Amino acid sequence: MPQVRVHSDSDAAAAAVAHDIADLLITGQKAGRNVVLGLATGSTPLPLYRELVRLHREESLSFRNAVTFNLDEYEGLNGDHPQSYRRYMQVNLFELVDIPRSSTHVPDAVAADPDAACRAFEAAIVAAGGIDLQVLGIGRTGHIGFNEPPSGRHTRTRRVVLDEITRRDNAAFFGSVDSVPRAAVTMGVDTILGARRVALLAFGTAKAEVVRRAFTEKPNADCPATWLQEHSACTYHLDPASASLLKT
Ligand code: F6R
Repeated sequence: MPQVRVHSDSDAAAAAVAHDIADLLITGQKAGRNVVLGLATGSTPLPLYRELVRLHREESLSFRNAVTFNLDEYEGLNGDHPQSYRRYMQVNLFELVDIPRSSTHVPDAVAADPDAACRAFEAAIVAAGGIDLQVLGIGRTGHIGFNEPPSGRHTRTRRVVLDEITRRDNAAFFGSVDSVPRAAVTMGVDTILGARRVALLAFGTAKAEVVRRAFTEKPNADCPATWLQEHSACTYHLDPASASLLKT
């Protein structure tokens, strides 16, 4: 079962995960090796990225040995689109720290051959040595990455159709629900479970019910976050609101 840490607020949760990432990077630098990070987008990880940027600016944390793989990208958006997840990462982290652009990977959602692009993304993760720490948020549908229900345990990087709840939840970023893409490319459940460690962040009352489901339901495709129960090193970093329906 995943471990649960209930922090005083989202900033405290973000600081804890940033601390773990900093430890990995510093240990890797001492050993002369890269650290492979799986990254999420959306509202939830913003305080994490703010803290990582602060550590870079104020405490000289370097990202020169980081290699990153983002979970997902909206279909049809290239990296220049303001709502693309590539752009989000550039603005919120990559351009604010010393990570080489060539070390950052976001699924290609405009590829002429989408299946080949998905296979290449998986191969790049393997070539990098696998993901050391995967950061996750969770959607109200139970998705991790954009693995909407139903998503089986053995899914890999692929095209998925977005749930209407997910499109509504992201409408504010696009100005209207009709402007939210109907599909995305996402790492699969199996890709995510392949990470050596997983840190899932969830904040606010809107996430309380799905956090409860993720813990109490048997692993099942209709609530894909339940598959995390099969990971041996997964921690949920919650605030009191998102943890409010858990009996801890
Ligand atoms: C984003 C992602 C999604 C989000 C989830 C929660 O890369 O993979 O699973 O983590 O939709 O989104 P927010 O944080 O905006 O509530």
